[in-house]
Amino acid sequence: MDSPTTPLISRRDALIVGAATAAAVSSSAPAAAAPAASAMPIPRAKLTLNVNGQVHSLELDTRTTLLDALREHLHLTGTKKGCDHGQCGACTVIADGRRINACLTLAVMHDGGQVTTIEGLGTPQKMHPLQAAFVKHDGYQCGYCTPGQICSAVGVLDEIKRGVPSHVSADLTVRPLLSADELRERMSGNICRCGAYSNIVDAITEVAGSRT
Ligand code: FES
Ligand code: FES
Repeated sequence: MDSPTTPLISRRDALIVGAATAAAVSSSAPAAAAPAASAMPIPRAKLTLNVNGQVHSLELDTRTTLLDALREHLHLTGTKKGCDHGQCGACTVIADGRRINACLTLAVMHDGGQVTTIEGLGTPQKMHPLQAAFVKHDGYQCGYCTPGQICSAVGVLDEIKRGVPSHVSADLTVRPLLSADELRERMSGNICRCGAYSNIVDAITEVAGSRT
């Protein structure tokens, strides 16, 4: 007969039984709750994208973001994936004349549209003025955010030229100033973990000044 101090089941046995029960529950529950993923058809759609002046015909899972279409299907890896949640700006491209976060939009939403990525702005041999200014002013360190920064800066200069106000524009009835405050506010969606912000503002200011 067991003494009062001897447990009927050891602690080790209890742990083994508990683990086996948990494994049995976790392996059987999903199968009963949901149909197998392989049984669900993948929604696909045909679309055309004009990227950097070249027309591409694609057939994609309709859930593909524009960012993944550019990087994974068209192999234009200049556009970077940082957060994939619209928070860092690394994926900024210009779509039909507006800067957007490519991770926040589906490729099918741009069927027939025009997209410009960093590869379409310039080449190492013939750089866009903003690319040249970023090099001149050391507007980067690791360079991961830089394609998004430059595409965003292209959009910023176009917005100022068109008189689009920002949160810090003092007078909504006149053309926005090309001030550091304006540039910092408009570029605030583009995060640089290397902290190259002041040099980025210098680069954009130089190009903006040469265009006024
Ligand atoms: S990857 Fe799109 S905003 Fe960060
Ligand atoms: S240059 Fe490194 S994150 Fe901006």
